[in-house]
Amino acid sequence: MIKKGIILAGGKGTRMSPLTKAVNKQLLPIYDKPLIFYPLSILMLSKIKDILIIVNKGQLNQYKKVLPNGKNLGIKITYLEQSKPRGLPDAFVIGKKFIGKDNVAMILGDNFFYGQNLSTLLQNNTKLKEGARVVLHKVQKPELFGIAQINKNQKITKIKEKPKKFFSDLAITGLYFFDNKVVDYSKKLKPSKRGEVEIVDLLNFYKSKNQLSADLIGRGGAWLDTGSMDDFYKTSTFVSAIENRQGLKIACIEEIALNNGWINKKHIKKSIKFYGNCDYSKYLANLNK
Ligand code: DAU
Repeated sequence: MIKKGIILAGGKGTRMSPLTKAVNKQLLPIYDKPLIFYPLSILMLSKIKDILIIVNKGQLNQYKKVLPNGKNLGIKITYLEQSKPRGLPDAFVIGKKFIGKDNVAMILGDNFFYGQNLSTLLQNNTKLKEGARVVLHKVQKPELFGIAQINKNQKITKIKEKPKKFFSDLAITGLYFFDNKVVDYSKKLKPSKRGEVEIVDLLNFYKSKNQLSADLIGRGGAWLDTGSMDDFYKTSTFVSAIENRQGLKIACIEEIALNNGWINKKHIKKSIKFYGNCDYSKYLANLNK
């Protein structure tokens, strides 16, 4: 079972400046909570309690204000800084000590997942013992993502980052499951022409060893990444529509912790005090009834 997870939440967020001049992108709102709550909730739904959040140099205090250490969620949150955006696999070099001898999941701080059976899919993938596993989802604009082609047996036959020429419309989402070799493999990667180590190079390494597998989120599930201002609004609208219809929150991290049996009503009370008088606290108060 994978018991450790990394959220890569650095990056300069240049596309979203001036919003990101003072605040990291992952702390900006998706409707009623900071973006970081959504990837964190995905790791928690995967039953992962030991979590490393990698943030931009100098932005640690911003994060700690809203997610101090995980105690109130019954989880452990560790923070490390990335001095500059050296690429996604850099997370495994930075996180070497945290990972230790274990396997690890990684989610990008700007990825949003929603859908029926998502928890089952996540918990199945944490069973990974050897190799690497990616989660794919159909997209209309494959040129914007890492893309994978699969055969009838759901085996990956080709992967490429932001391909100019169409070969598949299955995007590699920002959620990955790796065995412990990921640390050594990541160290060996050389930066690409754009000066970053590339996640597709890491995945291709596993593929060359016949150790790369894929899972699929079907059309009943939603995967959105929040790379631009427009994406923030669209994702916020999506969350607002569902939350206001159902009266249930997406990515309420305390609710997930409570359902997982990691915390009790006392912790919820503490969280209400922490957040203060707001709608989010009112929702938490209702969980305590
Ligand atoms: O969202 C899924 C896509 O994410 C995948 O399909 C691609 O294969 C993968 O390369 C990645 O593409 P992006 O163009 O979205 O990556 P971006 O550079 O925007 O980084 C994604 C997040 O990771 C973003 O929140 C910033 C953070 N980041 C990125 C880099 C390169 C870091 O914290 N450190 C980094 O060094």
